[in-house]
Amino acid sequence: MAKPKVLATRPLFPEAQKILNAGCDAEYWTKRERISKEQLFRRIKDKEGLVCLLTEKVNEELLSKAPKLRIAANVAVGFDNIDVAACTRRGVVATNTPGVLDETTADFAWTLMMAVARRIGEGEALARSGKWKGWDLDQLVGTDVWGKSLGIVGFGRIGRAMARRASGFQMKVIYTDAVRAPEAVEQELHAEFCQMNDLLARADFVSVHVPLLPETRGLFNGGRFAQMKPTAYLINTSRGPVVEEAALAVALKKKQIAGAALDVYEKEPKIHPGLKRPNVALAPHIASASIETRTKMACMAAENVVACLSGRRPPNMLNPEVFKTS
Ligand code: DGY
Repeated sequence: MAKPKVLATRPLFPEAQKILNAGCDAEYWTKRERISKEQLFRRIKDKEGLVCLLTEKVNEELLSKAPKLRIAANVAVGFDNIDVAACTRRGVVATNTPGVLDETTADFAWTLMMAVARRIGEGEALARSGKWKGWDLDQLVGTDVWGKSLGIVGFGRIGRAMARRASGFQMKVIYTDAVRAPEAVEQELHAEFCQMNDLLARADFVSVHVPLLPETRGLFNGGRFAQMKPTAYLINTSRGPVVEEAALAVALKKKQIAGAALDVYEKEPKIHPGLKRPNVALAPHIASASIETRTKMACMAAENVVACLSGRRPPNMLNPEVFKTS
């Protein structure tokens, strides 16, 4: 019997290809440049499965070009690029990759926090410039991370992984979330629940770990920055549109906060020019980018596709009701 046809918008990793090729007739977009909308629409026509990245929009327009599509598997935990309701209407299963990137992402949020607090970007530039004149007492003095208070906004898996790291740095952990964590979790992570206003007033580092939803879009705006301490830093490894970049640029310019460290942006790959300042650590959306984790993410997406197209329940469905009724 012919295997179901699948399109992957990247070559993925060999381990993931192995999974996908075993169950499907997979076509991979292998060019370095991203697949264009035209190419995507042309190639998706006869496919039953799609393995896509967060840079591809799975919306009505794409779905209308994909009459045979049964599953769209995102290689990311965030799925704001997928119109899940539209997928559900059309009977297409949507999946993501939860769980496998939590620790890696928390590692990177921590890296960014350290980088901005200890001025790594500026230090590296100086060390490479040939202009370093040697040790000096007040040279590139930053601020301590250890012993400070860490405010975590969004206490899901990644937020909690962030909290776990804080104990080694003797930090006070406060968090806010729409849903308070069970007492046992708070105790284990030595984390105190508080309201957003309280968190902003108290935290030395505010690390954001919420998904992009209508209610979190623009969550960090001028008003929120005004509530933060002038010595505080904002760390964002969640989704760019959670932070209003123009407002952040103003807050930095007015010294309402001390600095920021960002991995994600409102209009990637564009970065607001007002954020390209020495007291902002910038990374190009790489928080989950370790070879181990990215391989796991790609394998997970491949497994979701193979399961769905062979009639088994995909493990990471965003709209499980579709699978039941299909
Ligand atoms: C995700 O998975 O949502 C990240 O942003 C990419 O790793």
